[in-house]
Amino acid sequence: MSFWNRRKSLESVSARQSHSALRPTLSWPHLISLGIGGIVGTGIYTLIGVGAGLAGPAVILSFMVAGLVCACAALAYTEMSTMMPMAGSAYTYSYVALGEFPAWLVGWTLILEYTVVCSVVAVGWSGYAGGVIRSSGLGIPEALLAGPAAGGIINLPAIVIALAVAGLLALGSRESATVNMVLVAVKLVALATFIALAIPAFDTNNFEPFAPHGYGANPIGDANYGMMGAAALIFFAFYGFDAVSTAAEEAKNPGRDLKIGIVGSMIACTIIYMVVAAAAIGSTRTEALAASSEPLAMVLRNLNHPVAAQVIAWAAILALPTVIMAFMYGQSRIFFVMARDGLLPQRLSAVSEKSGTPALMTIITGVIVAIIAGFLPLQRIAEVANAGTLVAFIAVAVCMLVLRKQAPNAPRPFRTPAATLVAAGAILGCAYLFWSLPHITKVTFVVWNTIGVIVYFVYARSQSALARA
Ligand code: ALA
Repeated sequence: MSFWNRRKSLESVSARQSHSALRPTLSWPHLISLGIGGIVGTGIYTLIGVGAGLAGPAVILSFMVAGLVCACAALAYTEMSTMMPMAGSAYTYSYVALGEFPAWLVGWTLILEYTVVCSVVAVGWSGYAGGVIRSSGLGIPEALLAGPAAGGIINLPAIVIALAVAGLLALGSRESATVNMVLVAVKLVALATFIALAIPAFDTNNFEPFAPHGYGANPIGDANYGMMGAAALIFFAFYGFDAVSTAAEEAKNPGRDLKIGIVGSMIACTIIYMVVAAAAIGSTRTEALAASSEPLAMVLRNLNHPVAAQVIAWAAILALPTVIMAFMYGQSRIFFVMARDGLLPQRLSAVSEKSGTPALMTIITGVIVAIIAGFLPLQRIAEVANAGTLVAFIAVAVCMLVLRKQAPNAPRPFRTPAATLVAAGAILGCAYLFWSLPHITKVTFVVWNTIGVIVYFVYARSQSALARA
């Protein structure tokens, strides 16, 4: 069969496969927690400050724009993941709706996205951990606390956290999902504390001038300023719900659990972000937010709440690993499914008898994340993560439209309302945000996918399970 015509049938992915299936151990509280664990992280804890510098108080609109685009994508994800409750997410949906080659490219893009998000958050975590290490007087040399771009040699804390999370995941998803739930609670209590202490200092004067750099995306130097420029960056704060869909094969009752897990976590996070952003901007000048590498703690310190500021810092140290966990979980499953399909070496898909998880793949993923986090610059990898995510979101919205045409009567446990409008919102919104990214990021993305095309034609095309069927 020509590779152009290779497609998985909808039937093959809408029922659980008995062979090498992952254990269904997760229900909706685990999935909501996995979603919030993946969404609330470096974006709201750190990038809110950078966004405020790019857009001024209008960053609150940037949150709205990015949230709206992500809400459209989340609805498409929910329809697709409840139709196809199999591990693999956008890669699997593309294999059914678009064919093997587009699916390979989406899978290759997801590998980029999930890996670099984990690395970004590991580096962000290392920033907070570095502060604690320095003040504890352990005497660890500065050169071991930051990568080469930040003036060091190797970012050791980032490497340690990446490997620690990979080890936890390899022990089994149920155990790590439970740990994840506790840490998500820590993260949310910290944000609630921030809101409660910052709101009393709310002053509408802090919202003037509202949009000092306008409402577009205006390049100044390497950055894009303005409300839309900030939206392209703040987008990072919103994704993570897609990690829930990668857990589809391990959901006890996919129709119900995924719907609640994906939409629930998305709605919860959008509300939390709007309130945190309003509290931060209302209580502090955006210039001060932009100048801080720990904006939420800085706000509380300025408002004379030093203990609460410490609590926020420790909450970030304790809880940011939940974001790494959610994405690393998704990453190992993407690898697992691509290997099961023959597109990556089959032995990588082995599920450990003891833990019921693809342990080998999880550890390999952890090592790659650690290497990137140990040596590459934070800003670059964050932008690259956004590029991969935006393209994956576009693919999922396209898949939803294609399957509505190809299989109009297939069972859909969740039907996206106004699907054409929602898909258009996701596709056009993500395309615009992608376009707003720096040139170097787009070039990196094209280079990665060119390598992907070569790997496909040299290896995956001939090894594909469908080619051998
Ligand atoms: N949304 C995640 C974060 O902000 C990736 O860390």
